[in-house]
Amino acid sequence: MNVNGSTILHGILGNPVRHSLSPAMHNRAFTHLGMNRVYLPLPTSDLAGAVAGLRALGFCGASVTVPHKQAIMAHLDELDPVAGRIGAVNTLVIDERGGRPWLRGSNTDWLGANRALSEHLDLAGTTVLVVGAGGSARAVGFGLLEAGARVLIANRTVATGQALAVRLDCPFAPLDGLGSVEADALVNTTSVGMEPKADASVVPAPLLPRFKVVMDIVYAPLETRLLREARAAGCRVVNGLAMLLFQGAAQFELWTGQPAPVAVMREALLEQLRKTG
Ligand code: ATR
Repeated sequence: MNVNGSTILHGILGNPVRHSLSPAMHNRAFTHLGMNRVYLPLPTSDLAGAVAGLRALGFCGASVTVPHKQAIMAHLDELDPVAGRIGAVNTLVIDERGGRPWLRGSNTDWLGANRALSEHLDLAGTTVLVVGAGGSARAVGFGLLEAGARVLIANRTVATGQALAVRLDCPFAPLDGLGSVEADALVNTTSVGMEPKADASVVPAPLLPRFKVVMDIVYAPLETRLLREARAAGCRVVNGLAMLLFQGAAQFELWTGQPAPVAVMREALLEQLRKTG
């Protein structure tokens, strides 16, 4: 990477961002394609100040992560309709209109989840059980509906799960009542199984053989207990790196207008994960 006076700037707004894998993934993609672009960590608790900084400094695009994915919506010139329906923005595309910077907010989390799952099954007409009812579940659920899948929501707290199910206009099942649920695929959007509590799984192993595909959005560890038990039950499994990779690939394509080099981006993510343990 040769940063010089013409380098196009990108970054990730969040707090904290020290553990983000996105700088490694995007910088590897830029370098691989010989693009004069750089992607920086931009930790901030002052979102208004940071957005003014992006505009003033001529940034071309940025990722947005926890805790700013909802708050960023108050600082945009334009909101992508799907991001508006999800209620969260993870991507900023900045160009110029009328001689001033124009910030458009999008959401690629749902694209990442859809692409990760659709490598294993055709989403149109399939039934997917989404476990969890937080921000990730909202993005995954909206995305699946957008692709023509049928969605079921399951959640530990019934009121939260039912609220999301109403919002998505889909059925709800309590987490302790999954025995009677029929679905082609299951996606865990909760943090259950994440290090340091890697011995936990959100769905009991005896229920897993009914699913063709089981996906986890947790990527540390790469093979969660849920995925290990799903593999043993004969399911195809999709780890959390896939969604991270494909949401990043969609960001890269929005920023550059070119196809993302997915294989090198995946390798960069794996290398970074190995380094950070
Ligand atoms: P995010 O925005 O990243 O999705 P979140 O809003 O904190 O995160 O949502 C976390 C989800 O994980 C919720 O659905 C939560 O269930 P509750 O609504 O019952 O809190 C779920 N979750 C977290 N820990 C859990 C656990 N130990 N067992 C079951 N579900 C859990």
